[in-house]
Amino acid sequence: MGRKFVVGGNWKMNGDKKQIDEIVANLKNGPLDSNVEVVVGVPAIYLAYAKSILPDTIGVAAQNCWKVAKGAFTGEISPAMIKDVGAGWVILGHSERRTIFGEKDELVAEKVAHALESGLKVIACIGETLEEREANKTEEVVFRQTKALLPAIGNNWANVVLAYEPVWAIGTGKTATPQQAQDVHASLRKWLAANASADVADSVRIQYGGSVTAANAKELAACPDIDGFLVGGASLKPEFVNIVNATQ
Ligand code: 13P
Repeated sequence: MGRKFVVGGNWKMNGDKKQIDEIVANLKNGPLDSNVEVVVGVPAIYLAYAKSILPDTIGVAAQNCWKVAKGAFTGEISPAMIKDVGAGWVILGHSERRTIFGEKDELVAEKVAHALESGLKVIACIGETLEEREANKTEEVVFRQTKALLPAIGNNWANVVLAYEPVWAIGTGKTATPQQAQDVHASLRKWLAANASADVADSVRIQYGGSVTAANAKELAACPDIDGFLVGGASLKPEFVNIVNATQ
């Protein structure tokens, strides 16, 4: 095993310089478990600012990017630009991108491929809606979403973290039970063993995301196939430190 626990804070479209100062001060104050990798997902316009005040031990991620390096794509940012301001990560395929902005598996895969080629690390998000879960389609959906990523990732799995985020648990206060999350993570790993390789299945880190708080993080973190979290709302609050330290 030996998968390093990795906790991402996805700030989404929240925060201003003042709030970022407060979040960063809280992270610096920590103390953060040094065995845990921490990445914050920052609104594009604040990437450079956040990078300039964060310690180097904390990774910085964009929350989206386009699929080519430059050109006539008004309003978009490229992995090259993200790297240029010193950020090393990008979150791709978040359910809000998929549902609100209509991003399909194929587009997410193209973005993942280009981000990896450009030298960024990728947090690739997958997850089913409530309707899909109630129709017993959870596995079908997350396998389909992951399958679309296989050619895009190729042999670059070392630079990918998967984030399983059931859509019904995002921002709703309804966390998946540790058993529900563990079950999906375990079946994903089994699917990866069959469709990527045993080594990928064993080494890839799978985060859980969806209403993670300091109150439920420890129990989720204790599940054998949960290797970290992607945290939304609680990543803006002081309790994010406790979530980072959930394995202690
Ligand atoms: P919440 O933690 O606010 O439910 O958001 C989860 C999420 O979407 C992280 O990417």
